[in-house]
Amino acid sequence: MRKQLKKIVLIMAMQEEAQAIIEHFKAKKIASNDIENIRYRFEGVDGLEVVLSINGFDSVHQVESVGTQPAALNTLSCIREFEPDLIVNAGTAGGFGKKGAEIGDMFVATDKVYFHDRRIPLTPEYKSYGIGAYPCLPWGGEIAKLLSAKSGIICTSDSFDMSEIDKQQMESFGADAKEMEAAAIAYVCQKLETPLLILKSITDLVDVPVASEEQFMANLAESAESLRTGLIKLFSADLNKLQNNSLEA
Ligand code: ADE
Repeated sequence: MRKQLKKIVLIMAMQEEAQAIIEHFKAKKIASNDIENIRYRFEGVDGLEVVLSINGFDSVHQVESVGTQPAALNTLSCIREFEPDLIVNAGTAGGFGKKGAEIGDMFVATDKVYFHDRRIPLTPEYKSYGIGAYPCLPWGGEIAKLLSAKSGIICTSDSFDMSEIDKQQMESFGADAKEMEAAAIAYVCQKLETPLLILKSITDLVDVPVASEEQFMANLAESAESLRTGLIKLFSADLNKLQNNSLEA
């Protein structure tokens, strides 16, 4: 028997990715905190309470606070304040076409989640600390079935582009997609023993000869729509039934 899900925190990096969910569930804005996370609350199935917390807007640079530090701070603050039974991280990612990723595909992380740019070759222990390899929700496969999504390996760095050495590292993990928050969130979740579900929708293919940033801008709306469909399905499902079924399977 797994712990019943009564409260979920949904962590997202960009308002544009979150807007359709806010509108669909008629989410109510709630108080922010001293690190300016943007927060909403709505109800899922059977009284499930969902808090959506967006990493925030960087007023110095006038951009959304993408990347690992804002994601880790938001996650820590949410776990302390709301004590959720599950964290869901949803957002966009760049996919590997040679592994079958296509624009708009939804991926559920069902294996470990890795950092691909933290290379610390001092000792084997530092090397594995750098990589992270944090666990994901053990019943992520059930969620992938529910959402008709692909299962895959997600990895994280603070760069949108990809150096040759990052690429080699990702290949060694068998990565399906790269993004900029999941492993940082997973680090906090591991520390505070909170289960984590990671959902990523593909905006760009990182192994084609067109710049990822160009593809990202062109495909963000399509990818946000796929995220919207997936999140609506997720929060309209009886997740407690799903997690219990996964134990019987
Ligand atoms: N989010 C969407 N596409 C990405 C990419 N190629 N790298 C990192 N984060 C992303």
